[in-house]
Amino acid sequence: MPASYNFACLTFAGWTKQSFIQKLNSGSSSINKKYDSMRYFGKNINLFLNNLMVCYTDDGPDDAPVIIFIHGFPLNKSMWNRQLTALKQHYRVIAYDVRGHGESESGDSSTFSIDNFAHDLVYFMDALKIDRASLCGLSMGGYIALNAVENYPHRFDSLVLCDTSCFPDTPETIEKRMKIVESIENNGLVRYADTSVKSLFAPQSLTTKEVEIAAVKEMILTTTIQSLSKTLLALCVRKETCTLLPLIQVPVLVLVGEEDTITPPTTAKYMHENIKDSVLHVIKHAGHLSNLENSADFNKQLKTFFASVYKRQGTVPSEISTSFVEQLRDKLKSFVALLTI
Ligand code: MLT
Repeated sequence: MPASYNFACLTFAGWTKQSFIQKLNSGSSSINKKYDSMRYFGKNINLFLNNLMVCYTDDGPDDAPVIIFIHGFPLNKSMWNRQLTALKQHYRVIAYDVRGHGESESGDSSTFSIDNFAHDLVYFMDALKIDRASLCGLSMGGYIALNAVENYPHRFDSLVLCDTSCFPDTPETIEKRMKIVESIENNGLVRYADTSVKSLFAPQSLTTKEVEIAAVKEMILTTTIQSLSKTLLALCVRKETCTLLPLIQVPVLVLVGEEDTITPPTTAKYMHENIKDSVLHVIKHAGHLSNLENSADFNKQLKTFFASVYKRQGTVPSEISTSFVEQLRDKLKSFVALLTI
């Protein structure tokens, strides 16, 4: 891993001794608490790493197991808001914008590939001093997660592969993606957003999930045409990861929307059958965006899975220990107050 971070750190409070730049977005940011010198807690935190500003959200207890969420294409970290809310009581939950998406910068145009997206993820973990984490990736997020596990197996506790695939693109898919690149350039983003939601959501969701559809369209419309085109090309040339599946040594949960036509349940079943320690769950009333279309079932599956993963390792964080630490802090504060009277 090349040590190519910028060794300066600018925070909202000024210069600090940290080995990376971590800065809060003005305007849309929300800061609740600064836990320690290496962690900022809240939404839309900017981290400068490897010549790129990466934007992320970080929530949940400081000492809890870490779960990193990786979004699909052409979306951004906000697609995981409901999962962060559901899990933040017991886990440190982080969702970041893949380069060129959401509020992360694109960097050099030659850097768009699933390999580089996976390297970015590990640089990001290094910068936040996270040795190990669980990954939850949807579709493109799953391609990145599988690539990261292949290249850095010792960095991950478990995987959730949602509506994703280990297969490379077929010639037909590549042709389709090329036509999309052309169409975005000729017809613009609005037409692309309208067409995309029709394949991302299950037919029933198209009439019942207005809020989610509006949010997804917004995510697409705020991505630049250049990033969309470059990512489509990156998806076309990604390599297969099916041969890796039998080698995966960590627990895996495979989730798929019952009506996902982009990465269908047959693909999810194939992945499950080829990963030793895996569980498959089909999410009803959902297409490709199962976390948004049936969040209740999706979140329930995540909670059950992570409880089993971290119980196995004996690291389930308890509310008791959090409140115990808080009581200790209060006692210490009173003691210091007494000393200063
Ligand atoms: C995604 O949701 O990330 C995309 O559908 C992935 C793909 O098109 O292969």
